[in-house]
Amino acid sequence: MTPSTPATLQLRVDEARELNPLIRLLRLSAPDGAALPGFTPGAHVRVQVTLPGGQADWRHYSLVNASTAAAASAAPRHYLIAVRRDDQGRGGSRYMHQQVQVGQVMTVEVPRNEFELDHPAGCAVLVAGGIGVTPLVGMAAQRIADGAAVRMHYAGRSRSQMAFLPELQGLLHAALHVHADDEAGAPLDVEALLDACSATDELFVCGPKPLLDAVLARTHARGWARERVHFEVFAPATVAAGDHAFEVLLAQDGRTVQVKADQSILDALIDAGCDPLFDCKRGECGVCAVPVIEGDIDHRDYVLSESERQAGKVIQICISRCKGRRLVLDL
Ligand code: FES
Repeated sequence: MTPSTPATLQLRVDEARELNPLIRLLRLSAPDGAALPGFTPGAHVRVQVTLPGGQADWRHYSLVNASTAAAASAAPRHYLIAVRRDDQGRGGSRYMHQQVQVGQVMTVEVPRNEFELDHPAGCAVLVAGGIGVTPLVGMAAQRIADGAAVRMHYAGRSRSQMAFLPELQGLLHAALHVHADDEAGAPLDVEALLDACSATDELFVCGPKPLLDAVLARTHARGWARERVHFEVFAPATVAAGDHAFEVLLAQDGRTVQVKADQSILDALIDAGCDPLFDCKRGECGVCAVPVIEGDIDHRDYVLSESERQAGKVIQICISRCKGRRLVLDL
């Protein structure tokens, strides 16, 4: 649950279209055609999905906007989202691909933005990996509308799996650098990308965890201030090699909860009937922080500082785990 529950909208699916075999575009509008709540570049909505077995859940999708017209985001007539199918996931993306039909009305939370374009004095360098391009399209459009410097590095396995290339080419022209792994024979060269940056440039990164980790490690090694690197991870917590089951003792509550190898502490607590605070479920927002009384934490978040990690007194339960077999939480 979130600290305060955002307002929801009932929106109709006006268009559902496969951009490629992996990505489905959905256009959502108010049934009466009214303007929708506005949003800023980098914003997302949460959409209610139905998982196999009928359980309702929420999925987070960035709003895609390639228009430089102010009204397109200030008083939009529709929201565009792009959903990448994840056949290994819990079923939310498969629902969006296989079950959602034109004409269906969906429950959608009003837009929120935790990935703001803060208008750097230098160039806004947009770094997209795969479906992580979705929030960056609107950033590119905003910078173009403002007459401000922008360039994009868009990486994917192959062009056939990438989305919004025509729109981005129309916006950015030579400032769009497409990196297809199958053409280059290697991943995106982050060092070369950073070599081309000046001291006032800022990075806006959205993509899979390995891309973000590479950018964070290399900017840190170069002495970049952390404030110059803005990011959003598009994938929720995933199972890593060697992940194992462990138990969590809730010291105040007295209960012990078993966490499976492929389950987050957060999900295990919810399944056990607890009501923990959370929001992003990707280790970015900090909402799910819980004090730790005992146990060896495997930190996987992007919230805590190095000294907080070393101290081992707090854990982001949506993504971090236990290195040993037992964790004692102050819950
Ligand atoms: S819910 Fe955002 S960091 Fe855990």
